Amino acid sequence: MKLEYLYRGFPGHPLHPPLTDATIGIYTFATIAAVLSKVGIAEQKAAEGWTLALIVGLILSGPTAITGFVDWLRIERGTSLWRTATAHMVAMLIATAFFLVAIGAGYGDGIDGAITDGAFLLTLIGFFVLTVGGWLGGAVVFTYGMRVLNLVEEPAHQAVSPVPEPEEKAAEK
Ligand code: HEM
Repeated sequence: MKLEYLYRGFPGHPLHPPLTDATIGIYTFATIAAVLSKVGIAEQKAAEGWTLALIVGLILSGPTAITGFVDWLRIERGTSLWRTATAHMVAMLIATAFFLVAIGAGYGDGIDGAITDGAFLLTLIGFFVLTVGGWLGGAVVFTYGMRVLNLVEEPAHQAVSPVPEPEEKAAEK
């Protein structure tokens, strides 16, 4: 077993994508909670939920960004794939910065059950940039096929288990 499997995941089972699901999911929850609080639905509880969700999202962003970064390091510089992945990285770092400033500005009020207009706006902008970044990440995977093996003949038992050969086999194609 290669050491890199620990931080890149296995062939056919990269680490970055499932972490992105958790990170985008919790930021989406935070944004929905902020909207609910602002329109007066469970105002206080939703504001508390927004606070906690942003904190969890920022914690999850660490391993998510690191696993994406180690994959990005392997892309040949200057290629279209590299440009798209770099735009994705920049978008995700900007989105993370917006969420960080939002919680920095609104933490106290959020814990007290209210979201300030400024923190709300920062959350909405962060979510918009996150969506753009997700779109670019989707292009990296679904347009360029990064980390995709596409071994349509692979037997099911081999496809679901982390076996080392397929990524090399796919690279030979
Ligand atoms: C909050 C941080 C991040 C989020 C939420 C995120 C989200 C995503 C998403 C949604 C995808 C498409 C995967 C799929 O649809 O299953 C993706 C792919 C990718 N992202 Fe990120 N990303 C983040 C940070 C980064 C960073 C900092 C880099 C560094 C350059 C990066 C590099 C990549 C690469 C190389 C891929 C292609 C798939 C792979 O290698 O696993 N990401 N990302």
